[in-house]
Amino acid sequence: DWTMAAFKDEAISKIREQVGKGKVICGLSGGVDSAVAAVLIHEAIGDQLTCVFVDTGLMRMNEAHEVVTLFRDSFNIPLVHADEGELFMGALDGIDDPETKRKTIGKLFIDVFEKHAKEAGGADFLAQGTLYPDVIESVSFDGGPSVTIKSHHNVGGLPARMNMKLVEPLRELFKDEVRALGRELGLPDAFVGRHPFPGPGLAIRIPGAVSKEKADILRKADAIYIEEIRKAGLYDQIWQAFAVLLPVRTVGVMGDERTYDAVLGLRAVTSVDGMTADYFPFDHDFLGRTATRIINEVRGVNRVVYDVTSKPPGTIEWE
Ligand code: XMP
Repeated sequence: DWTMAAFKDEAISKIREQVGKGKVICGLSGGVDSAVAAVLIHEAIGDQLTCVFVDTGLMRMNEAHEVVTLFRDSFNIPLVHADEGELFMGALDGIDDPETKRKTIGKLFIDVFEKHAKEAGGADFLAQGTLYPDVIESVSFDGGPSVTIKSHHNVGGLPARMNMKLVEPLRELFKDEVRALGRELGLPDAFVGRHPFPGPGLAIRIPGAVSKEKADILRKADAIYIEEIRKAGLYDQIWQAFAVLLPVRTVGVMGDERTYDAVLGLRAVTSVDGMTADYFPFDHDFLGRTATRIINEVRGVNRVVYDVTSKPPGTIEWE
C-alpha cells in the first residue's frame, strides 16, 4: 500500500526526531493499536524501546501467550510480561458498579505498569497506541462535553502520573488505517484483523461482580463464538463480536436433569470507527448452532441470547 508505506517512513522520521537517543517504554494491551505502535517505534529506534505487557487475567483465550510469542519470537522486541491476574481479581472482588470497575482497573493498571517500567530501567518517553477516535471520544463523548459515558482507561491516566513525554504515532489514524499500517510493518494478517478489545477487558463483559471462575467461563464461551464466526467466514465483516456473561441464572434441562445456570449474551456489530454501530444480522442457523455448542461445551451456561441493539442507543460493550 503506497499511502501507508509513505506514512510509515514519515512516522519513523518523526519518532527518531522526537526521541533522539532517549528511552521509550510502551504498554502493550494485546490489541492491534498498541502492537502497531510498538512495532513502528521499534523500526524507528530499535532497542531504545522496551514493551511492558500487563496481563490482567482479563484477556481473551490465549491472548497473553499470542502477544508474548509474537513480540519476543517473531519481532525480537524486548518485552516484560507482567502476570498480574491475581492482583486484578483481588482488587475487583465484590465490585459491581461499571464505573467503579473501570476506575479500579485503570488505577491498578497504572500502578502495575509504573512498577514494571521502573524495574525495566525507566524511560524518557511513554508510547501509546492512541487513535483519532480515542482522542475525540475522551474529550466529548456523544456530543456532550460534560457527560462521561464510560471512563476509558487507555487515554489520560498514565502520562499524567508518570510525568513522561508522549510518543503517539497513530494519533491521526482511524482503525482501518492502523490495520493497513500493521500489515505494512509485517504483522500477521490474523493479528492485525483482530476485533478491538477494551482496556478493562473481560471485566466489563461480566456485569456484576467479577471472579476468576466467571472469567474462565466467559473465555471458553467467547472462544467458541469466535471460532464459529471464523468458520462461517464472517469474522472480517464484523467490527466486534464477543460474549457477555450475565449475572442471571435461569432454569434449564440437560438430559433428564434440571439445571440452574447463567445466561450468556452474544454481541456482534458492524461499525466504521466504534462511534456508531449496527447489530450484525446473523442467520438463525448460525445463532442456533452456536448456542447449542456453547451450552453443550461450557459448564455453567444453559441459555444464550442475542443482542439486537444498535449504537446509539446501546453502547457496543455492555458496561
Ligand atoms: P462503547 O462500548 O463505548 O465502545 O460503544 C466503543 C469502542 O471502544 C471500546 N472500548 C474501550 N477501549 N478502553 C479501550 O481501549 C476502554 O476502556 C474501552 N471501553 C470501550 C469498545 O470495545 C468499542 O470498540
